[in-house]
Amino acid sequence: MTMQIFRTKKVTSEDPIEHRLRKCLSAWDLAFLGVGAIIGTGIFVLTGIAAATQSGPAVVLSFILAGIACTFAALAYAELASAVGGCGSAYGYSYAAFGELVAWIIGWDLLLEYGISVAAVANGWSGYFCNALVAIGLPLPEALTKAPKLGGYINLPASLIILGLMGLLIMGTKQSARVNNAMVLVKLLTISVFVLIAVFNVNPENWHPFMPFGWFQTLPDGKTTGVLAGASIVFFAYVGFDAVSTATEEARDPQKDIPFGIVASLTFCTLIYILVAGLLTGVVPYTDLNVSSPVAHALNLIGFKGASAMVSTGVIAGLTTVMLVLYYGLTRIIYAMSRDGLLSSFFSEVHPVTQTPVRVIVLCGLIMSLIAGFMPLGDLAELVNIGTLAAFVLVCFGVIMLRITQPELYRPFRAPFNPVFPIMGMLSCGALMAFLPALTWLRFGVWLLLGLIVYFAYSIRHSKLAQQQSQQHFY
Ligand code: ALA
Repeated sequence: MTMQIFRTKKVTSEDPIEHRLRKCLSAWDLAFLGVGAIIGTGIFVLTGIAAATQSGPAVVLSFILAGIACTFAALAYAELASAVGGCGSAYGYSYAAFGELVAWIIGWDLLLEYGISVAAVANGWSGYFCNALVAIGLPLPEALTKAPKLGGYINLPASLIILGLMGLLIMGTKQSARVNNAMVLVKLLTISVFVLIAVFNVNPENWHPFMPFGWFQTLPDGKTTGVLAGASIVFFAYVGFDAVSTATEEARDPQKDIPFGIVASLTFCTLIYILVAGLLTGVVPYTDLNVSSPVAHALNLIGFKGASAMVSTGVIAGLTTVMLVLYYGLTRIIYAMSRDGLLSSFFSEVHPVTQTPVRVIVLCGLIMSLIAGFMPLGDLAELVNIGTLAAFVLVCFGVIMLRITQPELYRPFRAPFNPVFPIMGMLSCGALMAFLPALTWLRFGVWLLLGLIVYFAYSIRHSKLAQQQSQQHFY
């Protein structure tokens, strides 16, 4: 048993042609994919909530701290993506570095990260969408816009947008990338509108007091507050850069293009976040920002109603790209796990015409659509963060491990200052995990336990690696 769970996958493995994806994404497609996944609910919604309840105007510091932790993790991702490859992202790297059990845990963890993120962002999207419908005089009945727990029947727009994206992903990766690129441009335009207006309307008094909630404290109800707690929430804004690494098998020149896609998109988004967070808390008092659409709300408050409507529309497009890329990443991770035999082989077949893993796309779409329609997912943003941070810690550790166990491995991109940077990545991501509430840790523990049950009940015996190894043993 001990040997089984530590079996590692060889770094170079070729898969049969019917299990290969089409190589169609350029370096810029990948960078756009990253920006598509990164800029979303985090900056457009959570900035306001974090500013009002956790960080005050110092939310900009929260963004910087979370950005630093992500930078270390991104460099580690870039190295492993260029050296190990595979479309399973951190799951694939762990399989090579730590063996099957850790890989399974990470894969299971990524399912949580990506699946819950898509459903959560769909809820945010639905909020903006419903506001837009109200603005043009075509409101939906309230019962169709809320989950049962919030007094409605179903959040229909949230459910339907996921089904729409499902159709798009089935049609093919290149088509999806094209839609993504167009929407990323709309999203950037939206941010530019806000920045141009905000820059001329800053009132420096709004930045005082700068840190009303201090660095960190735990409140009597178990919730956490302060700049550090804010960092562990706004971290959600960075979730998604790792999605670039799930596209490795569809990249034209993965060893060069994936590191470029990851580093370029993260750097760009970090700068945008610092700018937007600084301006947002500069144009209105941070206490006014605890609303579901803080950027549009702030423009409204300073009298730019037309621009506010425009920004809302852009945000609807922006959140769509986030869902699209995370959904794409989710299907690719399941596809990789299924191809390795850890999940049923039912999911690893690629459709002969579209060359996409249609079954996975449909199954994930249906499940996420149900979750998005029937569950209010606000509190699960923290769950997404804890899952993602855990994956980042392991990816950083993976760089150190592989440098020791496979020093000769060709690494087109090398994370600098090894092992200092990966260790800093582990410490900073671990610290952000520590600032999350205890309840989030408990939920995370339950999810992992469930994963272990599936692994020992099914995956350990169906693993392709297990079968290969037992055949070698036999001969
Ligand atoms: N980073 C993504 C967002 O902020 C998940 O919506």
